[in-house]
Amino acid sequence: MKNTVLTFKEAKIQGKKLTMLTAYDYSMAKIIDESGINGILIGDSLGMVIKGDEDTLAVTVDEIIYHTKAVKKGAKNALIVSDMPFLSYHTSIEDAIYHAGRMVKEGGAHAVKLEGGANVLPQVRAIVAAQIPVMGHLGLTPQSVNAFGGFKVQGKSEETAKQLIADAVALEEVGAFSIVLEGIPAKVAELISKAVSIPTIGIGAGRECDGQILVYQDMLGMFDNFIPKFVKQYASVGKIMGEAIGMYIEEVEKGLFPEDKHTFKIDEEQLKKLY
Ligand code: KIV
Ligand code: NA
Repeated sequence: MKNTVLTFKEAKIQGKKLTMLTAYDYSMAKIIDESGINGILIGDSLGMVIKGDEDTLAVTVDEIIYHTKAVKKGAKNALIVSDMPFLSYHTSIEDAIYHAGRMVKEGGAHAVKLEGGANVLPQVRAIVAAQIPVMGHLGLTPQSVNAFGGFKVQGKSEETAKQLIADAVALEEVGAFSIVLEGIPAKVAELISKAVSIPTIGIGAGRECDGQILVYQDMLGMFDNFIPKFVKQYASVGKIMGEAIGMYIEEVEKGLFPEDKHTFKIDEEQLKKLY
């Protein structure tokens, strides 16, 4: 079934949990989409899991568009959400609309996501006015890593928790259709989820959120140099890949691969003429 922003809003009303994963290319998007996911995020996490950077700050709008195009072709039913990179919506409302618009127009995104609360309300309102659905993102917002002094759980004091709730309510008021809650105490995420009528999508925010999102490399066990507390590895795909690649190397080195069945033939008549 095709997922839209209405599917997301309806799920919250019906108390049905929403599922999202990231994807960055056609092949993975196809697997994830065919598994029945509600939404796929082309996250700026690609800076870390695709480009190998230490944070998300260097990701560009062009990179997000490039990956969104690939994901879009692989995903037939998921809602496609593209992340707005650092500096693509901070400089002005015009820049925010323009970059969000490019993600829809060139990338094929159905919606965009951007980080922040009170500080980005004018941008969210303007993008929504341009008929582009916006997903908010509160809590441990990775683009704030330098401002936070590291990747640190947010909303642990009464004051900061209240600010998160106020930010979520404000995001709904300016028209966001959903909000990612990242790296905040589960009880705070629960309060936020009850304070808004749009679905919250949690990552490191407990099970009372209206849905969940993970980076696929994390949940498939393809990225195990660092495993955050909030990640559950549903498989050890990295290990399976390593074993398969090891077998390939061994068989090539021993002359066992390719076998006859992997090999193209020339007819005997033609072959004779070659000698
Ligand atoms: O970039 C990303 O993958 C994200 C999700 C983890 C929410 O923003
Ligand atoms: Na992101």
